[in-house]
Order: sequence, then structure tokens, then C-alpha cells
Amino acid sequence: MTKIKPGKKLKSSDQPCQAELADKFVCYQQSVQEPDHEVEVFDQIYREAFKSKALTLREDFCGTFAVSCEWAKSDKDRKALGIDICPETLQWGVENNLGKLKPRVAERVEVLEQDVRTKTTPQVDVLAAQNFSFWIFKTREEVVNYFRIAYENLNDKGVMIMDMMGGKECYATDVTDKRTIVKGKKGFKYHWEQAYFNPVNADCSFYIHFKFGDGSKIEKAFEYHWRFWTISEVREMLAEAGFSKSLVYWDVADEDEDADWQSVDKAPNDDSWLSYVVGIK
Ligand SMILES: C[S@@+](CC[C@H](N)C(=O)[O-])C[C@H]1O[C@@H](n2cnc3c(N)ncnc32)[C@H](O)[C@@H]1O
Repeated sequence: MTKIKPGKKLKSSDQPCQAELADKFVCYQQSVQEPDHEVEVFDQIYREAFKSKALTLREDFCGTFAVSCEWAKSDKDRKALGIDICPETLQWGVENNLGKLKPRVAERVEVLEQDVRTKTTPQVDVLAAQNFSFWIFKTREEVVNYFRIAYENLNDKGVMIMDMMGGKECYATDVTDKRTIVKGKKGFKYHWEQAYFNPVNADCSFYIHFKFGDGSKIEKAFEYHWRFWTISEVREMLAEAGFSKSLVYWDVADEDEDADWQSVDKAPNDDSWLSYVVGIK
């Protein structure tokens, strides 16, 4: 459960602390999301698969659907459909992301409050499930069932794209990765806590906390209780669900360079990595 913890300096004052004034979704978007990068990657992957331009996106587990909004902005012929089960998150996206788009762009974004395991029409070119969201499904049966529905939601020329993380550092527990997102007294830090991992069944728990310049905190702003899936397991499940082929995109750029995502058969055993697994219909 989300908890606001006041900073020491402001404990006895009537002034609200920064954590009370902050919006956790704003902090999340600033810390975690790069919608323009996601759209570029989806565009590249689709072009490489089908030598044409993807026009329709379904963003499963869309949260505040920042990626859907960016997709519609990227081309006047592009449409996006965002799906999420949480009304509060979707409403925030309507007010803060959709509301900022020009009306002619906004009308090309639709959102539905429903379970991702639902068939929708029309079918789409790209179905994306980002930020490891399908890890909420903890059994093979549940994931394959979800992938089968995703397959049906795709056009004949369609790709399903999911990001994955791994490497030995990602399995370490009692570890919190801290990053400064906005510097200074009025700024804030993003904390990614790796709280729990059970090697027997790969159950894991992660928390996002935000810490502010005045010492106040939003604790457990977001929490995730997942199964830690591996790339090879996900590829096997994509095949089982009917996908004709799967690919793995890896960032092959040097650390100080912009990301360069390439389809690979082999990758270095980095301590911590992100990749995209792609199912081709
Ligand atoms: C990790 S967040 C990801 C948000 C967004 N995709 C992003 O990249 O930041 C997971 C989202 O999945 C939603 N969710 C969880 N289970 C779901 C389900 N069965 N169907 C639809 N949405 C679901 C949650 O409400 C939450 O917004």
C-alpha cells in the first residue's frame, strides 16, 4: 500500500511535505518511461519483419497510456488502443496525457478498462506489453492463454513486443537501485527496490519509491508481485501459442552511445540487461 512519509525537517510544520504535493504518476512517467523511444523501436521491429509501416497499436497493460499517445502523435495515419484494468490509472492518463494532445490526435487514441485477456476488433499491427507487465501471470498456462489471445488480436502481418530484464544483478534481493531524476532541493529520486526472489518458483517482488529533496518519501508508490520469466521460456510459450517465429532484440551499442537494437541469437552475459522479445504472427 502506498505510504507518505514526511521528511525530518518538516515533521512539526503545517506545510505539506513534497511527497504530499507530488503526483506519483508524474514521478513514474519521468523516471521509467520513454514513449518516443518505444515508438521508434516498435516502428523498427515492424519494418524489419514486414518491410512496411505499422499503423495500428494495441498497448496492453497500458497504465497511463503514454506510449499510445506518442504512437498517435508520430503519424497522422496511426491509431492506438490502450487496455488496462485499473480505472484510477486510466483516468489519470485521460486527464494528463490524452488531454494534452491536439483534438485531431486525441481522436485516434482509444482506451478500454478491461482485462488484457479480451479479444478486440479491429486487429492491430503491433501489440505491445511493456514494463514486464505480463509477468503478473505466474503459470505457463496463464501466459500461453494470454499469448493466444494476443495472437488473435493481431493482423496477419502482426508483431507482439514485450520487454524483458535479466542478468545476475536483477535476481539480487535487499537491493535498491537509486537514481536522481530531478536534481536539487525541489527534485526527487527514483528508488527501485528488489525485495524478494524465490529461486524455487521464481516468484519475485519489486517496489518503486520516490524520495524528495526535503527528505519526504512516497513509499511503495507502485508494487509488483511477479514471476521472473526468462527469454527462452517466453519464446517457447510464444511458439506454443501459435506465433510462427520469435526474435530477441538486444542493445548492441556501447554504453556511452544511443541504444542500437538488433535482432540477435547470442548476447553477452551482462550483470543486468534489458531486451525485447518479439512474437511474429
Ligand atoms: C507495470 S504497470 C505497466 C504500465 C505501463 N505499461 C508502463 O509501461 O509503464 C502494469 C499495469 O498493468 C495493469 N494490469 C494488471 N493486470 C492486468 C490485466 N489482467 N488486464 C489489464 N491490465 C492489467 C495494471 O493496472 C498496471 O497499470
